[in-house]
Amino acid sequence: MGLRPRGGGKAGAQILRPDDAALVAQGRRIYRANCAACHGPALQGEPGWRTTAGKAPAHDASGHTWHHPEKMLLMITKQGTMMRGGRMPGFSGQLSDGQIIAVLSYIKSRWPDEIRAANDRVSGRP
Ligand code: HEC
Repeated sequence: MGLRPRGGGKAGAQILRPDDAALVAQGRRIYRANCAACHGPALQGEPGWRTTAGKAPAHDASGHTWHHPEKMLLMITKQGTMMRGGRMPGFSGQLSDGQIIAVLSYIKSRWPDEIRAANDRVSGRP
């Protein structure tokens, strides 16, 4: 499965599908198994992440995950941050592109409507 956006091939069109209930349920399981240990079971981030550099930030609306375009979130999850001196492992060896889309769709599904809409805009979606 590739990373081609849905919707007519418009540049930067939406890749994540936070309204797809089955995909979101799959993403929730993937999150619990692969991400929750660092980013927190409720997406709240690692304790002290706001004040201590190098801690895993929240993925809920209080964090800055939603500031980043969807494509960038996919790249960070695939590559991790270790080559930039961070602590996050890359998941391209363990998770397929489809599974990474599922887990990020789950994260996006937890954002309130206005935050989702803001993320759509930074992702190049009108
Ligand atoms: C070993 C701990 C760890 C695990 C496991 C982990 N992360 Fe991370 N993640 C981090 C840290 C720490 C950062 C902040 C960058 C840094 O300092 O490395 C981060 C940053 C991110 C970011 C960028 C957020 C932003 O606002 O800039 C995304 C997206 C992300 N992680 C997604 C995931 C996903 C999805 C998973 C599970 C598939 C996951 N992470 C698993 C530690 C982890």
